[in-house]
Amino acid sequence: MRSKPNLFSHSWEVVKYLNAQVPWPYPADGVFHYYRDRALPAIERGEQWHWTLRLKESPEILIGSIGLFPGLIDNRGYWLGLPWHGRGLMTEAVIAVNDYWFDVLNFKVLRAPKAQANIASRRISEKTGMRVIATPGDSISGAQVFAANCQSCHGADGKGGPTAGSVVDSSYLTLVSDQYLRTIVIAGRPELGHPDWKNDVAGQALTAAQVSDVVAWIASKRPASPLAKSN
Ligand code: HEC
Repeated sequence: MRSKPNLFSHSWEVVKYLNAQVPWPYPADGVFHYYRDRALPAIERGEQWHWTLRLKESPEILIGSIGLFPGLIDNRGYWLGLPWHGRGLMTEAVIAVNDYWFDVLNFKVLRAPKAQANIASRRISEKTGMRVIATPGDSISGAQVFAANCQSCHGADGKGGPTAGSVVDSSYLTLVSDQYLRTIVIAGRPELGHPDWKNDVAGQALTAAQVSDVVAWIASKRPASPLAKSN
């Protein structure tokens, strides 16, 4: 796979393997529909670029795929079947498609957000010259941050406790922005007895990631639509 991978364009050859032979993490027909209805038409329109990964010694078996997507947020996606993890295969593919992105397609910036827990994937990105430019909050870790730092006053699940009220009330959350919540967590409300980021638990300042995570957790309790709360 040293050379640039072949463009995944006239791909019934590829798609037919998806159902039968691939240890996909998704339902097989979901993958089939994804390629038939979305990826292949987007390739035809010149709007996306997809490649399949195959081993040199058994090119008939598809072991993974990688794609490039224009736009501001998420420019690259990939997956690799579990049995092939840990061999540097995806790193090789990432290097090749990165070159394609910059040298052939002439884009200037490539962004690839990923779940924070996906450390293997982040290492691939870092090895291939990317760096973390922003870390959006993760509401799952945020629940733990809340339990450790806020629950003593705001009660379990933020529903109100001995010394402070609810922070998950739906009318409240509908009215305040994430940025406002962030400011509260960082600066505190000293006049009301809500500590700043250094003093939720004595001697244990929150990290930047913990601030983002706990805000993401509170924000995840916001009703999807303001109308949803009225009944
Ligand atoms: C020492 C107790 C204490 C701790 C710990 C604490 N708070 Fe508070 N918090 C308060 C008090 C008191 C208020 C103001 C009265 C109220 O809302 O009940 C408040 C208010 C708030 C408000 C509403 C502020 C407003 O004006 O809109 C938010 C949001 C909030 N806290 C979030 C948090 C988060 C997130 C944490 C953990 C990182 C936390 N609090 C930790 C005591 C605390």
